[in-house]
Amino acid sequence: MSGRTPSSPAPPPDVPAPPAAGRARPTVALAVSGSIAAYKASEVARLLIQGGARVLPIMTRAAQQFLGPMTLSGLCGEPVRDTMWDPGFAGELHVALAAEADLVLLVPATADVLARLAAGRADDLVTALALCAKGPVLAAPAMHPRMWAHPATARNVAALETDGRVQLIGPVFGEVASGERGLGRMAEPAAIAAAALSRLAPRDLAGLRLVVTAGPTLEDLDPVRFLGNRSTGKMGFAVAERAAARGAEVTLIAGPVALSTPPGVRRVDVRGALAMRAALWQALGDDLRGADALVMTAAVSDYRPAEQHPTKLKRTPDLTTLPLVPNPDLLAEVGAARAGLAGAAGGGRSRPPALVGFAVETDTDEGVIAHARRKLAGKRVDLIVANHAADSFGRDDNRATLVTHDAADALGVLPKAALADRILDRVSRLCAR
Ligand SMILES: Cc1cc2nc3c(=O)[nH]c(=O)nc-3n(C[C@H](O)[C@H](O)[C@H](O)COP(=O)(O)O)c2cc1C
Repeated sequence: MSGRTPSSPAPPPDVPAPPAAGRARPTVALAVSGSIAAYKASEVARLLIQGGARVLPIMTRAAQQFLGPMTLSGLCGEPVRDTMWDPGFAGELHVALAAEADLVLLVPATADVLARLAAGRADDLVTALALCAKGPVLAAPAMHPRMWAHPATARNVAALETDGRVQLIGPVFGEVASGERGLGRMAEPAAIAAAALSRLAPRDLAGLRLVVTAGPTLEDLDPVRFLGNRSTGKMGFAVAERAAARGAEVTLIAGPVALSTPPGVRRVDVRGALAMRAALWQALGDDLRGADALVMTAAVSDYRPAEQHPTKLKRTPDLTTLPLVPNPDLLAEVGAARAGLAGAAGGGRSRPPALVGFAVETDTDEGVIAHARRKLAGKRVDLIVANHAADSFGRDDNRATLVTHDAADALGVLPKAALADRILDRVSRLCAR
């Protein structure tokens, strides 16, 4: 890890390698709407093609005020489509494009196009295509920060999140076209292309059963108060979402978070550490046969109030300390059970599940890695994802290091979905051993 502060620019994430020779090129319908950031769509097209995709360019009428269609058709080697009413096309163009596209990518996505998508409108080629898409629809919003912060846009974004059919990439904090700074700048083209290409990844985890824990645990003191932490669950949900997209059978055990369930994921909601423990062992079974791998991202509270009061505690001058009791260490428990299984002769089980833990600290980079190493050995884990609280909690990206017994692989800043993919690549290798 470097000493980078959270506000300095992120290095571009890795763009996945092109598909192996002989594999069909995945097709991306790249839909451009009317923002000054439209010029960056040509860079996204270039990166997608470089990553092995075929790109079908589509533009709204407004987009053509900002970027010449010839730029996209020249880069993509495909005609730019801009209307459903194309007399030269026999059939329904939006349906034909939807059938061809493995993924629809809106770059940039204006406030207007988000509103139309949220309303389910289909009054131009871009929105009709998005409504008809057979695969994922990703959108990279770009707009002035006041447009992004407006309650109408927030309402539209919330509706899209609830529906779960359009996933947003960004926006990010930074300079916008007017020269002002704020949240509304489009994510960088490399991050957008990486997110799209990773969604097109093969289903290489098919047949793998994965249990993921996510979010905080909340430890109740009384019906009103609890002990909690700042985890939002974004990392665990990203792992679950990417694992399911790559074909794994995923059980997601989630503490209280405000996130929608990723498609294809079985979700179990819990509140406190004891409930998370019960759900975890229910999923695993005593002999750990219920999973091939566990990724434990949850920030499980180390302590809980010694007593849970059925009614609200009254404020009294002599109540100044809160007696606590330690919670079970879920990662260590699974690690110990796994070590016991591996040590048992025979047993009919070929391999105990792979185990990935997280270590979040407020220490220096060196301190975080040293702590991760101790955790790796002490809790008998295969891999620890080491990260800083300031880089991680509540953010859509993270700066993490993958720590194993013999290596520490600093990944730099990655969107959580991309980090999830890197973790899952390791899980896949651990399971193949
Ligand atoms: C110079 C200029 C820049 C614009 N930039 C943006 C922008 O960055 N984001 C946005 O949401 N709208 C922006 N707009 C407004 C959209 O172009 C407008 O809402 C349009 O209806 C969008 O249509 P479309 O979503 O079909 O492309 C801009 C308009 C102009 C004239």
